[in-house]
Amino acid sequence: MGIDQVRWGVVATGNISTSFTKDLGLLDDAVVTAVASRSLDSANAFGDTFGIEHRYDDHRRLIDSGQVDVLYIGTPHPQHYATARAALQAGIAVLCEKPVTLTARQARDLVGVARENNTLFAEAMWMRTNPVVQAMFADLEKGVIGEPMEALADFGFHKPQLPARLLDPALGGGALMDGGIYPMTFVHMALGRPDEVKAVGSLSPDGVDLNVAMAWRYDSGAVAALTCGLRSQNPWTASVSGPEGSLLLPHRFHHPEYYVRSTASGQERVDVATHGRGYHYEAAEVMRALRAGQIECPALPHAATIEILELLDETRGQIGVSYPGDDEYLGG
Ligand SMILES: NC(=O)c1ccc[n+]([C@@H]2O[C@H](COP(=O)([O-])OP(=O)(O)OC[C@H]3O[C@@H](n4cnc5c(N)ncnc54)[C@H](OP(=O)(O)O)[C@@H]3O)[C@@H](O)[C@H]2O)c1
Repeated sequence: MGIDQVRWGVVATGNISTSFTKDLGLLDDAVVTAVASRSLDSANAFGDTFGIEHRYDDHRRLIDSGQVDVLYIGTPHPQHYATARAALQAGIAVLCEKPVTLTARQARDLVGVARENNTLFAEAMWMRTNPVVQAMFADLEKGVIGEPMEALADFGFHKPQLPARLLDPALGGGALMDGGIYPMTFVHMALGRPDEVKAVGSLSPDGVDLNVAMAWRYDSGAVAALTCGLRSQNPWTASVSGPEGSLLLPHRFHHPEYYVRSTASGQERVDVATHGRGYHYEAAEVMRALRAGQIECPALPHAATIEILELLDETRGQIGVSYPGDDEYLGG
């Protein structure tokens, strides 16, 4: 595809849309041409901040506008599916926030729609495209710690005033879907899909999970411990270890500035140059795939998106967290 500048449309004007759009400004070959919000005032305010020409108070109008090559979706999780599906059906590439959907079944459906329409679809699991994370996994691949046998990953934080979205079942609330997906992705990248999953969690009176502990077991003999929560200031780190040593991503491991390699030759801090907050790396991957005519970004694979949603389905089932619409979209 001979696109000089890829035209992006942004759906929603909340926190993550703001961070993502700021980082898109770091890419010379990207331009945000349109924004859609539920309110025209918000679309206009966002458009003024980022110099975006076309503003809409309806996602569908943006999709039909003919102004964009790729849609970035930054709505709460339950709202992702319908917008992503409509865009893919219209032949517009989609980069959608994590988790792309509430259930694996919905994600499988979106991958199917992407294939039917020969249109690129990617989950915005930005950690996968972070240069530090990629360098750490390249070390793992090289065998510096030997065969990985254990992983520990934690994503827990507390704010005196949590965003209402995180506590609302109707908005896909809870620690697991919002933060737990990162430890799950890290361990999935390190050890693959587990053969057995056990989870416990404590729930709010409204039935969303406030913290969760998971244990994953592999037939190979590997095990992993994963936690996430909204109740405590956790170390927020991730590590993988084998007989020859360990590799550790420090605090806020999903967008780290360095990693730590510990082997028989000692402990070493490995710095990798990064810039911006890190959202432009996933955007660059999407643009590369788009230009190559691919419907899947190699760094953001469909199979991993679906497998992790299957693990999220399983974990939610074990800890008793359900969302409106689950009956329709779980199973199958
Ligand atoms: N990759 C990351 O680092 C990262 C970080 C945070 C969040 N996320 C993901 O991004 C998504 C949004 O999170 P956020 O923190 O940006 O949330 P947020 O600040 O609440 O923003 C969500 C936006 O979605 C729009 N929206 C559409 N339907 C809505 C509804 N029914 N209720 C509320 N808002 C609605 C609103 O924008 P309008 O008013 O313009 O319609 C709202 O501002 C989630 O899926 C989350 O998992 C990713």
